[in-house]
Amino acid sequence: MIILGIETSCDETAVATVENGTKILSNVIASSADLHAKTGGIIPEQAARKQISSIIPVIKESIKGIKRAVDKIDAIAVTVGPGLIGSLLVGVETAKTLSLVWKKPIIPVNHLVGHIYANWLLPIAAKGKKHKLPKFPAISLVVSGGHTDLVLIKDHGRIEWIGGTRDDAAGEAFDKTARLLGLGYPGGPVIAVKAAEFSIKNPKSDLRLFPRPMQKEDNFDWSFSGLKTAVIRKVKDKEKLPTPQLAAEIQEAIVEVLVTKTLRALKHHRPKSFLLAGGVAANKRLREKFELAISHQSLPIDFFVPSPKLCTDNAAYISSAAYFAAKRVLSWKSISANPSLTIVGQA
Ligand code: KG4
Ligand code: ZN
Repeated sequence: MIILGIETSCDETAVATVENGTKILSNVIASSADLHAKTGGIIPEQAARKQISSIIPVIKESIKGIKRAVDKIDAIAVTVGPGLIGSLLVGVETAKTLSLVWKKPIIPVNHLVGHIYANWLLPIAAKGKKHKLPKFPAISLVVSGGHTDLVLIKDHGRIEWIGGTRDDAAGEAFDKTARLLGLGYPGGPVIAVKAAEFSIKNPKSDLRLFPRPMQKEDNFDWSFSGLKTAVIRKVKDKEKLPTPQLAAEIQEAIVEVLVTKTLRALKHHRPKSFLLAGGVAANKRLREKFELAISHQSLPIDFFVPSPKLCTDNAAYISSAAYFAAKRVLSWKSISANPSLTIVGQA
């Protein structure tokens, strides 16, 4: 079964075709990140305008390598939320039009659940775990620009929320602190580069400058908003620390609390698989620290993390999520965008 997926929830215009939920046939992404880098953040109206002009060329590009693509595509999957309303509408209205013209059903997908399904796409980058698929029950940590959610997944479509952020998302913490350091948007990748620069030169540095809020609390929740204030103070210090050092401290503070609290949940729920997902899952330090922590604790859990390119927004995981959770195959008339959908909300 081939599903064409469309993802336009934030600043990307992405279209992919995936066979049987795991094999990527095409994965095309047009990003307007350059546009937003100039303004230091996303301007929703600009993002949507760019998506309107990109969506048709991106669809064409994604099906051009498939002979008789329109005949072969079985269904259209589309992100219906959460996200920016103007951006979501571009994808949703395009999907409805394609559905009507091509006479294909639509499968609505929750963007946050979609991120998790990047772990079903082959090949999976986790060491020694190639071509193995996740097993249930699973726990997933979804860390993106707007969300930080920890969920217990009992089966496809059976997701329970067990924890998350009380304020800013992990990606937001990277983006906002990067801005304070004058590093531009998106902040995560550039903080990671600066942090690596510092750590290569100072491998023994213990990186404990910033607080680890809620780390010792007996729950699976996080709080990241205090990090901004702590960084503002350090940036204003007369003897300001070098930017790479501050970047390394910021990264370590975010990574350590994410790993510590998630590990608590893994020990408590003892799932068969742990699935890291979302844009922040592209972070090398986070991936390494999870790998180490899980093997160090000798937990009988398979750790999955998508290749960095599949962690950040793309449409391949939207197609995959649609394939595995395809309980709701609908006609174009019953689809609508929902900008405030939560990870456990019905797409
Ligand atoms: O999932 P995503 O692509 O879009 C949303 O759904 O939000 O996540 C984007 C977030 C941004 O906050 C970005 O700074 C962060 O992921 N990110 C990273 C890295 N790559 C992207 N954060 C830390 N390290 C990275 N390498
Ligand atoms: Zn995302």
